[in-house]
Amino acid sequence: MRRIETIAEGVTLYLGDCREILPTLTRHDATVTDPPYGINAARDRKSQKHGWRDYAAPGWDLERPPSDLIKLILGSAKHTIVWGGNYFTDSLPPSSKWLSWDKGQTDFSLADFELAWCSFDGAARRIMLPRSVALQDGKEHPTQKPIEVMRWCIDKLPDGCRTILDPFMGSGTTGVAAVNLGLGFTGIEMVPEYFEIAKRRIEAALAAPDMFSAPAKPAIKQEAFEL
Ligand SMILES: C[S@@+](CC[C@H](N)C(=O)[O-])C[C@H]1O[C@@H](n2cnc3c(N)ncnc32)[C@H](O)[C@@H]1O
Repeated sequence: MRRIETIAEGVTLYLGDCREILPTLTRHDATVTDPPYGINAARDRKSQKHGWRDYAAPGWDLERPPSDLIKLILGSAKHTIVWGGNYFTDSLPPSSKWLSWDKGQTDFSLADFELAWCSFDGAARRIMLPRSVALQDGKEHPTQKPIEVMRWCIDKLPDGCRTILDPFMGSGTTGVAAVNLGLGFTGIEMVPEYFEIAKRRIEAALAAPDMFSAPAKPAIKQEAFEL
């Protein structure tokens, strides 16, 4: 089933497969996304020492997006940031600009840092944010990114980006960061449980009071279509 929900002016969420939905969308200013890395991150890790729960949809991370889907994603916006870009170097053009989230840990069971490929040139940049701080956002998805990291990377986009697309929305972190910055957002997620989490998180961000220095958030409105 496919559903389209507009939850604010310029903020639209799609439940469905981005391979079908992307060709129907107009070109956005920027795509900022975190695709499956093909490392089976959603597997049941309950028995491991960190006590992670098993998630609603194990299996979505068994395969990386193939190069034709990466090509479709690159064509969906003027500028692109792809988290986990180091897993897709065979499909992405060379770039001088990479972003790194340094988790302030070494030789932990997870990666010490994560890398994002950028379609635009510039100096490589790093944000340092310990996982313990990141977990203060809550943990509703096995590969949930910290809101602060996504806000930081949106800020690194070339000037003038007003509409942000995330075709692998997960729990909606890119959307939360985008609306907090007063930007439009389009999100696509194919797993219904994650779609609902993303919708709830982005709606909460829209309803939260603006910090006095922040740009105005998109105005809330509600429209839903089943396709
Ligand atoms: C790495 S996770 C994104 C996590 C996200 N950054 C967050 O903070 O929650 C990738 C997401 O893409 C979704 N996904 C995988 N293939 C998809 C497809 N073809 N269309 C739409 N969503 C897809 C998965 O269900 C998963 O939730």
